[in-house]
Amino acid sequence: MVIIQGGTLVCPDGLRRGDVALEADKVVRIASSIEPAEGDEVYDARGCWVFPGFIDAHTHMQCWTGIDWTADSFETGTRAAACGGTTTIVDYATADRGVTMPDALDEWHKRADGTCTANYAFHMALSEWNERSRADLAIMRERGVCSFKSYFAYDHLRLDDAETLELLESLKPLGGTLCVHCENGTLVDALQKRVYESGIHGPEGHPLSRPDVCEAEAVSRLLYLAHLAGDARVNVVHLSTKLGLEAIRAAKARGQKNIFVETCPQYLLLDDTCFLRDGQDGLEGLEFVMSPPPRKPADRAALREALVNGEIDTIATDHCSFNIHGQKDRGRDDFRKVPNGGAGVEHRPALIATSFADELGPTDLCRLMSENPAKVFGMWPAKGRLAEGADADICVWDPSVSWTISAATQHQNVDHTPYEGFEATGRARLTFVNGVLAACDGEPTGAQPGRYVSR
Ligand code: URP
Ligand code: ZN
Repeated sequence: MVIIQGGTLVCPDGLRRGDVALEADKVVRIASSIEPAEGDEVYDARGCWVFPGFIDAHTHMQCWTGIDWTADSFETGTRAAACGGTTTIVDYATADRGVTMPDALDEWHKRADGTCTANYAFHMALSEWNERSRADLAIMRERGVCSFKSYFAYDHLRLDDAETLELLESLKPLGGTLCVHCENGTLVDALQKRVYESGIHGPEGHPLSRPDVCEAEAVSRLLYLAHLAGDARVNVVHLSTKLGLEAIRAAKARGQKNIFVETCPQYLLLDDTCFLRDGQDGLEGLEFVMSPPPRKPADRAALREALVNGEIDTIATDHCSFNIHGQKDRGRDDFRKVPNGGAGVEHRPALIATSFADELGPTDLCRLMSENPAKVFGMWPAKGRLAEGADADICVWDPSVSWTISAATQHQNVDHTPYEGFEATGRARLTFVNGVLAACDGEPTGAQPGRYVSR
């Protein structure tokens, strides 16, 4: 058995001091004191918070994005995740046009199986809608996929409104959740052209071409479509604006049910001045070209307040990493050619724990980064809960460690981090995945205990 002694346990009914015993891949006992037997592995967690492992429900590992491949494979991405305390990712398998969902799922399994340090589940993203896709939804459910994604942006991915409505209606009897990328794509295309032709070619053109109304209009449209589909279950991914938040509030005020909201560290910590950073080689601004872009300080403030008020269900990363050199720099003279996406799977718990130290305690961190992702995405009660019988995915978090986030020491497979120089307080001391020690003090142990999570 593995025995974790003397920590502050972050349990569903509150905090308590005690010991936790893991056997094989389950939590088998929680008590104020557990006497180790001969041969047990014992870990001292005094001064630490013991969480059910963190879950990052929005990643893009080893994925073709229409311009380039993301830099992190499942191997490097889940290793980095575990170093930061994340024990499960939910990655977006994507059925590009002409590819069926079962084939896409097979392909994502081929990329991930046998290589992962953290556990992995898959959402299925659709880029077209036809009779075949309708039938394939049920096959996806049988193969452990209960959440799907569609886009209102990106020419090669987006569905139109009628298709989105039919998708929502088809998911309802299956109990599926639709995650939606809410940006008005035709408007973005037109504004990109307008901004570029006005002479703005650098990364600062990116946020100018995707203003807050592009998000708010799409959020509002999605919520009306979901309502038309009988209050179908929807998850607004990577919410970034005050206007988008207001559209969600309006739908909730109308009484609409089954709306879930995700945001990401980049919208809680950064703002659009980042696009004007030069860095050493004049390329730093490219790091932040992600969609949606980091917004105005007022948007950030509104989202932070909503997070603290309990209006946001989950914090994920939208980890979609590209190198500056050799990938993002191809768009140095045309922001439209920069692969969209940022890195973050390793640093989310430290960023949020540090940045919200005065507002969110361990129970809140657990709710936003473990419990709610497990509940929204069909993994509760096995995951997201520190309790006897739950999966032995555990993060022992030392809230007293001070350290600096840097590309030089990270495990994400990219040449930068958007949070270079961030002074973090708190770090994962021990990360157990399925009962196996996967990372210790931010470094991987080399074990690859990650498994597919069928939901
Ligand atoms: O810029 C981003 N976020 N790229 C990844 C694809 C998406 O929009 O989620
Ligand atoms: Zn994404």
